[in-house]
Amino acid sequence: MSYKPSHTRYDAMEYRRCGRSGLLLPAVSLGLWHNFGGVDALENCRKILQLAFDSGITHFDLANNYGPPPGSAEENFGRILKEDFHGYRDQLVISTKAGYYMWPGPYGEWGSKKYLVSSLDQSLKRMGLDYVDIFYHHRPDPNTPLEETMTALDLVVRQGKALYVGISNYPADEAAKALRILKELGTPCLIHQPKYSLFERWVEGGLLDLLEKEGVGCIPFSPLAQGLLTDKYLKGIPGDSRAASPTGFLKESAITDPRLAQIRSLNDLAVRREQTLAQMALAWILRDKRISSVLIGVSKPEQLIDSLQSFRNTWFSQEDLAAIEDILR
Ligand SMILES: NC(=O)c1ccc[n+]([C@@H]2O[C@H](COP(=O)([O-])OP(=O)(O)OC[C@H]3O[C@@H](n4cnc5c(N)ncnc54)[C@H](OP(=O)(O)O)[C@@H]3O)[C@@H](O)[C@H]2O)c1
Repeated sequence: MSYKPSHTRYDAMEYRRCGRSGLLLPAVSLGLWHNFGGVDALENCRKILQLAFDSGITHFDLANNYGPPPGSAEENFGRILKEDFHGYRDQLVISTKAGYYMWPGPYGEWGSKKYLVSSLDQSLKRMGLDYVDIFYHHRPDPNTPLEETMTALDLVVRQGKALYVGISNYPADEAAKALRILKELGTPCLIHQPKYSLFERWVEGGLLDLLEKEGVGCIPFSPLAQGLLTDKYLKGIPGDSRAASPTGFLKESAITDPRLAQIRSLNDLAVRREQTLAQMALAWILRDKRISSVLIGVSKPEQLIDSLQSFRNTWFSQEDLAAIEDILR
């Protein structure tokens, strides 16, 4: 039976303005880094994407290299778009990126105009799209002039292959330079995508202030620290978890006893707040209004249902905040 999106899909979601742009993003966005590749079950990908859209998630985040194998997440997403989301393109915000290794030779990674423009062309083909909504430079390149990389982002917007551009993994000082160049080129940076979670706080040291001052949105990735900020590892490593997967980026070595002690204490606090740990970890990020959206991953529809409750309660008492700092010290 063909998929018909829920009529009530926009009722329950909160939408936030992305920086000082015209674009609204859902408080929770879905990333396709893991669980959507050629090694994964296509029907599970389809179920998750349908559930996400039915729940008001309008923003889906990809990159050239997502899989495995690299490129296969874009191919699977393109296939499901064509089969299930035909006619809904104008209700979707789709992003992709280039920056990490994608193909052999000197033009298959980093930040040259040669690489970025051809990578986006390949991504559009794989997804069967005329344009993406957001095209990111995935990581800073120490050897390419920033002017060249930013000019490539400006170019793809002028070519109509992307509506907006963003940067990812740029430290505050490099981000400031990139924002200035993009502004001068007339293609202001829409959004920054940094890693941010209870366990990864570097953005608090200047990046969030910069983005607020410049009117640029912020969409933190791995807000659950790839699953560590859930209750799933409290009783060992489940066989179907990312840490147990041969293709997962979360290594068993990250699950140390001190880490588990923190997770257990955070979980106790979440239970006192009548939230799951995943919900509290996402709510803790979303309590900051400078955050445009949290970019989560899920391997199962139930995880999405759980995490979607996060923005229902983003209020933290001073005691809760102090307890969190205490646990993380
Ligand atoms: N720009 C960059 O450099 C960059 C880097 C990394 C990621 N990203 C983007 O950020 C997105 C999210 O990253 P991420 O997947 O690492 O995010 P995450 O939300 O921190 O981790 C997702 C994983 O956590 C577990 N999980 C999620 N919700 C759960 C719940 N409610 N209960 C229990 N477990 C739950 C699942 O792991 P299991 O598989 O164990 O079930 C899921 O695969 C990516 O898809 C990508 O779009 C960007």
